Amino acid sequence: MTEKLYHDCHELISQGRALLEDLQSWGISTVPHGGRPAEMSSPEVLAERLEAATLDHLQTLMAGCTRCPLGEKRKSLVFGAGNPQAELVLVGEAPGREEDEKGFPFVGEAGRLLEKILFAMQMTRDDVYICNVIKCRPPQNRDPEAQEIETCEPFLKQQLEIIKPKLIIALGRFAAQTLLRTKAPISRLRGHWHEYEGVPLMPTFHPAYLLRNPAGKREVWEDMKQVMRRLKA
Ligand code: URA
Repeated sequence: MTEKLYHDCHELISQGRALLEDLQSWGISTVPHGGRPAEMSSPEVLAERLEAATLDHLQTLMAGCTRCPLGEKRKSLVFGAGNPQAELVLVGEAPGREEDEKGFPFVGEAGRLLEKILFAMQMTRDDVYICNVIKCRPPQNRDPEAQEIETCEPFLKQQLEIIKPKLIIALGRFAAQTLLRTKAPISRLRGHWHEYEGVPLMPTFHPAYLLRNPAGKREVWEDMKQVMRRLKA
């Protein structure tokens, strides 16, 4: 898909979504659609879903994805890795250079720190499932753009629906703000339980942030202790 076409499609979808949201705010729950009413259970009604009941199937269907321009530049689509029946899912931001090279999430320096955190929680990568909000590396590791997040988010949602974890950890601002649909800063979100589709969610600082600000490790550990307590409950 060309960049222009991508932007035009995105614009149309955004306009449609805004219209549906507006209608919903009036209490209107169905709209005529080709002679038959379309369900309007949530604004995601326009987002793409792939018919997949397992992570493997979803990953296969996503292979070769070029729904956003990141798909044209990546080496690997970094789908996610770990235990598909995990009680705990950790959601990061986006693959970096090493993740793009290897095709797995959190295999660079931030990943090594994440493994230490898991070790301190008496867990390994095999006990949890790790994935990102977006599956392809943004050039020069720039922040993901709103349109990229919107395009990729339905697949994260599907991953979480398939895994049905007991708890979610949102690593950093992008994961927390995307899953919680908020613009609140991570410093305010972290340390408190939130909910994503009925699943308790703990936001915490991103391991890459901790590499730059080691003082934040104390707060992350406080957050992880809350997670451990709740996992055992
Ligand atoms: N940072 C992330 O958010 N995700 C990765 O997979 C690697 C680094």
